Amino acid sequence: MSFSRRSFLTGSAALGAAALLPGIARAIPQPTGLIAKPQTIDLFDGKGPITEAWSFGSVPGPVLRVRQGETLSVALQNDLPQPTTIHWHGLRLPNAMDGVPHLTQAPVKPGETFDYRFVAQDAGTFWYHPHVNSAEQVARGLSGALIVEEATPPEVDRDLVWVLDDWRLQKTGALAPFGNMHDLTHGGRLGNVATVNGKYDHPLRLRAGERVRLRLINVANARVFGLKFLNHDPWRLAVDGHGVAPERLGDRPAVVPPGGRLDLILDATGTPGDKTEIHDVAYARSAYMLAEIHYSEDTPLRTEALPAPARLAANPVPTPDLANAETIPMAFQGGAMGGMAQARYQGQMMGLRELASLGMVWAVNGEIIPRIEPGNIGSPLLDLKLGRSYILRWGNETAFDHPIHLHGHSVWVLGRNGTRVATPEIQDTVLVRPRETVEVAFVADNPGDWALHCHVLEHAEAGMMGFARVS
Ligand code: C2O
Ligand code: CU
Repeated sequence: MSFSRRSFLTGSAALGAAALLPGIARAIPQPTGLIAKPQTIDLFDGKGPITEAWSFGSVPGPVLRVRQGETLSVALQNDLPQPTTIHWHGLRLPNAMDGVPHLTQAPVKPGETFDYRFVAQDAGTFWYHPHVNSAEQVARGLSGALIVEEATPPEVDRDLVWVLDDWRLQKTGALAPFGNMHDLTHGGRLGNVATVNGKYDHPLRLRAGERVRLRLINVANARVFGLKFLNHDPWRLAVDGHGVAPERLGDRPAVVPPGGRLDLILDATGTPGDKTEIHDVAYARSAYMLAEIHYSEDTPLRTEALPAPARLAANPVPTPDLANAETIPMAFQGGAMGGMAQARYQGQMMGLRELASLGMVWAVNGEIIPRIEPGNIGSPLLDLKLGRSYILRWGNETAFDHPIHLHGHSVWVLGRNGTRVATPEIQDTVLVRPRETVEVAFVADNPGDWALHCHVLEHAEAGMMGFARVS
């Protein structure tokens, strides 16, 4: 019948222009439990040694998904040999759910449980990890993605989560010992094996013509990732969960600092059977191939070029009142090769050598921030008035990168080195490069004591962690 032949042809022509599917609202099982426990993992899929890790059931932990405006409810059970908590990185939630030991809750002891429950008010890509002894617990594998789905997700064929990590392994596959002084005073615990979703060999498998959303999450202790997708030109869609004006990366690598996230829209512009690579060029002298890109032999999903992705709807982050904001300068100092000779620690001037013997080598405005301890959280680094707007001027006077992370709030990145941008992007983890100054603004609208720290976890351990009190 000519009719069916004709409709068949029409059908296949339509296939050549396959419509993008809006994200499908899926049933999200609630509540979820997470058990933190020791686990043997296989980063090399049988082609290398195994590793004794700690996990939330898998490495990385399960991808938690919730729709924006819904309640996330997670029971944490601690089967680790040490106390722990979960911090929901990047979420603006009530202080009691923030997971910072001594500041917002008592650490969850081995054998104990804790129920986290909060409304996910912002959509985007977030993650979760312990906040107790983080430099060790996160490096041992305790981290996972938390996806808060937009009411109207962007039109893509697939939505992929890529948890980027690096591991410092010995030849046996065992994790190198923790507590290395060089890591504290230099660039943190950089690993020697990089993984995507807990695998050393994790290709990006594409079908020609498809459009994917790629959610990059950097859970490494210290490594900045800077990805180059050879022969591809992805769009930046969101930073730290918050939509940005979509633009192509062009020659710039996709930079994701420790703790940070970057959502990309990647169009599979290659042809069936193509093979290419993703390089991590964050450290120019030690660039390496992170993953391969493999195209299937399937016929292209569509042949026409797709239009620019639409900008994500804004999250309900309050707009800071810049005209009436108080500006607070914060100079980050210390570490190796930073030129800091001495700093004040617990009321006493001390030389760098003496400070190093106490494991406290980073300072803010000439002062070492004491560790937050049981029964003694110390005084806040910032004392902020509820509802007021603030500009923090983060100056990096050290020789190392510092991704600065503020809990409970998202900040507008106004500009760098004195130059303001026209349209600030919203972040929660802001990379401040050596000798760079970054100005961020936010409304202190969330009451409580909020950790403010460098997300190079060894730096946080050695002095770069304090808290802002909003009251
Ligand atoms: Cu990702 Cu204070 O943490
Ligand atoms: Cu740092």
